[in-house]
Order: sequence, then C-alpha cells, then structure tokens
Amino acid sequence: MKAQDFISAQDITTDELLGLFELAKDMKGNRKKYFRSREGMTLAMIFEKPSLRTRVTFDVGIQQLGGNGIFLGPSDINLGKRESVFDVAKNLERMVDIIMIRTFSHSICTDMADHAGIPIINGLTDHEHPCQALADFFTLWELRGDLKGKKLTYVGDGNNVAHSLLLAGARLGVSVSVATPKGYEPDAGVVENAKMDAQKFGAKIEVTNDPVAGVANADAVYTDVWASMGQEAEAEERKKIFSPYQVNSELMAKANPDAVFLHCLPAHRGEEVTDEVIDSKQSVVFREAENRLHVQKALMHELL
Ligand code: CP
Ligand code: NVA
Repeated sequence: MKAQDFISAQDITTDELLGLFELAKDMKGNRKKYFRSREGMTLAMIFEKPSLRTRVTFDVGIQQLGGNGIFLGPSDINLGKRESVFDVAKNLERMVDIIMIRTFSHSICTDMADHAGIPIINGLTDHEHPCQALADFFTLWELRGDLKGKKLTYVGDGNNVAHSLLLAGARLGVSVSVATPKGYEPDAGVVENAKMDAQKFGAKIEVTNDPVAGVANADAVYTDVWASMGQEAEAEERKKIFSPYQVNSELMAKANPDAVFLHCLPAHRGEEVTDEVIDSKQSVVFREAENRLHVQKALMHELL
C-alpha cells in the first residue's frame, strides 16, 4: 500500500484492495504461515466508543502476526481532555509501531495521522468505518468472485458505514445504492467522490428515499443500526422515521433471489432487520464479522 495510514476507504486503490483480498484469503486459509510475520510489533488500540468485533479482531489479529496489542479505553487516555491528540501521538509513536483508533470526530483520527510518524488505522469515526467496508467487500468477493458489475444496496441511515461502503464500492466497480429517509442521506461530498470513482470503474452510485426501488437487482442488501454510537438521545425519534426502512423478508424478496444480507453488527433485531432476515440462509453476517479479522491482519501486514 502506498498510503502510510488507513483513515478513509479512499486511502486504498482498486489494485491495492484486490491485493489485500488475496492476502486476506491466504491468511484465512494458512494462518500458521504468518504466525511470526510481524513478530515483536505492538499495536495500540484507542477506543473512545464501545466495541466487540473491532477490539477482538484487532487484538487477535496482531497476536496471530506475532505481535501484541495494548487496549486503551476512554478512561485510560481521556483524549483531548487529559492530554491533547498531538501529545498522545508524539508519545505513542516512540512506544508502539501502529495505532488503531475508534473515536467520535473524524478530525481526531486525521490529526493523529498528521502528528504520529507511525501508521494510523481508523477503527470507526462518526464519518467513516473503512475497516468494515474492507470486510464487507472481501466477504462478497469470497462468495461471488469478481465484484465488477455487482450491486449493493444499503438501506437505513446515511452514516459512517454507508460512507465507507460508497467509497470502497465505487473503486471496486460495485454499484452502490443508498436508500434513506429524507434528511438522513449520506454526506454530499462523499457521494460526489464516490460518483467520480464509480464513473471510472463502470459503476453507478444512487441515493434514493425509496427502499423498494433501491433494492431492485441488488446482489447484496445491507443495513446498520438507525442510531449510531453517540446518537442515543435520538433513538426513539429515529425508530419512527426509519420504520419504513426495515429490512424484512418482504423487502429482501424485491432484491435478486440469490442476494446476500449483510450487517456490520451489532444489530438491533426487530428494528433495522427482522430475525427472519438476519437468521435466514441469505444472511452472511457472522462470516462478515469473522472476515474483519482476516482483512485487518492483511491491512496491518501491509502497513507495518
Ligand atoms: N462492526 C463493528 O465495528 O463492531 P464493533 O462496534 O463491535 O466493533
Ligand atoms: N453506525 C454504527 C456502526 C457500529 C459498528 C455506529 O457508528 O454506531
């Protein structure tokens, strides 16, 4: 990878994405081959929000490469309050080899990358969740092979997960349709960037308020929680606004018959997705969660 950091799904080119998928596939099939490949390397994991998948897959991932991880929770660093982002970056770059950070404002992540002379990985900000998009498209690639010409429809909030899917999808030649309630569309700048890439790679980017039209001809239907971490106060109001955007069997039936169902998890069963869909044969959500491990190992392997 040319970029030193992985902050946005735009930090990786199409060829690099496909190379990463090949490496992740090899790592998944030949775990032992990589056991000492990053021996002695230390990953600092900064978490300002809760996590199951990101924490476990990064920690297990660095261990499986022969390194070790240090967990730094919200009360450990108290980023920006006990100590500035600049000072944290200047300390950690002398102590560890790579940093993964999950935080609120995207600018904290970019500031960390600007100030630390070691690779920074975005483990989710309010604006993007690029590691998730890597795992999502790796999962589709494993299941369907060449992704060019495929269509993924994201139904729900135009949030961090939607942004990274738009940006990564466009580079892979995947048409991405995002169906949201009015006022909850993805960021206009992200959509613009995705459209420019999509044009180059023969894909189409669409934003619609109609979930049924959105899922037409979809090879993958994706959803995420209606209220993201940090938006808990809006949860009740959002439930009413988003209820027509629930992914249920009726909506799945409007996509391609062999469409897969994806969700970054955690899921709020009975809200954005029904049990019937998430537990159906079409659902690949746990494979998708496992694949966080394999793609992030590949990512760390490339950045370190
Ligand atoms: N999908 C995902 O990032 O899960 P966690 O919030 O549990 O890390
Ligand atoms: N959009 C969700 C994703 C969780 C993995 C959030 O930010 O809470």
